Amino acid sequence: SERTLVLVKPDGVSRGVVGEVISRIERKGLKLVALELRTLARETAEAHYEEHASKPFFGELVEFITGGPLVALVAEGPRAIEAFRSLAGATDPVSATPGTIRGDFALEIGANIVHGSDSTYSAEREIKLFFPELA
Ligand code: GTP
Ligand code: MG
Repeated sequence: SERTLVLVKPDGVSRGVVGEVISRIERKGLKLVALELRTLARETAEAHYEEHASKPFFGELVEFITGGPLVALVAEGPRAIEAFRSLAGATDPVSATPGTIRGDFALEIGANIVHGSDSTYSAEREIKLFFPELA
């Protein structure tokens, strides 16, 4: 079994779809092992998105993710990383298939509701960053 870090980003919290996202994770059969509502400090946001530090949208990304409370959670199950990314849908919500979280609830790439770890390496790094007590 595997663990993944999921964020319901500030747009997901302000749109009121936290319950919807958690419900989809649970209905899929993934198990919640940690869950917290928090507002990220700039340093945490920069560390979380360090792979994008050189991208032109990095500043915007950090502003956005620190702009309000988010929900961080860890979900566990067989192939949890891939399973959640499949629930989330494509990064660009307009291309995301309806039925996925982004396909159903978002229109803009900069406000695409959720984050999910993209590899076992990033999952381990991100879980350590958000929930050091789980490591
Ligand atoms: P995450 O699960 O959030 O990491 O999304 P992803 O893995 O599908 O995409 P990626 O890691 O490539 O990009 C991280 C986040 O940066 C995306 O989820 C978007 O919210 C944001 N992003 C990506 N491309 C752009 C862009 O061109 N402009 C803006 N404003 N944001 C972008
Ligand atoms: Mg990513």
